[in-house]
Amino acid sequence: MQALSSVEGGYDLLAPKFDHTPFRTPDGVLDATAGALRPLGPFGRGLDVCCGTGAGMRVLRSLCQGPVMGVDFSTGMLAQARRAHPGAGWVRADVRALPFAGAFDLAVSFGALGHFLPAERPALFAGVYRALGPGGIFAFPVGAPQPVTSGWYWALLGFDLAMRVRNAVWRPPFVMYYRTCPLHAVRSDLTAPGFTVTTVPLTALGRREDGSPRYRLVLARRPGTPG
Ligand SMILES: C[S@@+](CC[C@H](N)C(=O)[O-])C[C@H]1O[C@@H](n2cnc3c(N)ncnc32)[C@H](O)[C@@H]1O
Repeated sequence: MQALSSVEGGYDLLAPKFDHTPFRTPDGVLDATAGALRPLGPFGRGLDVCCGTGAGMRVLRSLCQGPVMGVDFSTGMLAQARRAHPGAGWVRADVRALPFAGAFDLAVSFGALGHFLPAERPALFAGVYRALGPGGIFAFPVGAPQPVTSGWYWALLGFDLAMRVRNAVWRPPFVMYYRTCPLHAVRSDLTAPGFTVTTVPLTALGRREDGSPRYRLVLARRPGTPG
């Protein structure tokens, strides 16, 4: 049923079981992210973009001294998040039209970029840019591309091809692609609204055979001095 639904409807259906699936961001990734952000903090107000059941609260609560909030368009996922983290704020919205202006000092996002077509990323990133105050940071981990010799390369390619076929023949579409967000394209889309973009290796998450990090944290900074 989930595979035949829209993204929003699919997550509504999956919500009660989501934390027991591999799609929930593992604590190791969350902790590595928090570790890389800690030297840049402390931060004031925090936002988790596409918060799902609230995994990112583990990061925001450890880094933010002000209120923390999650935004997602799945009512089911938000209900789980609200139950698990009653002290945080929760907003239902489509993040392609984020309803915030200058309200946060740190925004994070986990496991959601593949839900946006490349043509949708500019609106998403412009909205996060608007949501941050001067000097605010938007951070999210990205995996290194898989070498063509690895089984994962072919598994992810196969998944994306299957989704393209599914979306060509079935409505509503379920947009989730693993190979549509290479770092160079993401960096260019972040630069467009005005972010300054750097990356730091998340070495705690391991290295590939050639010694390069398996994950990097993208740090997109809105220019200015935090208030
Ligand atoms: C794979 S889950 C990740 C949840 C959580 N961040 C985590 O890492 O465990 C992706 C989430 O993105 C949300 N999402 C996808 N597209 C969205 C959109 N356009 N607006 C708001 N939320 C969206 C889904 O509802 C879902 O909760």
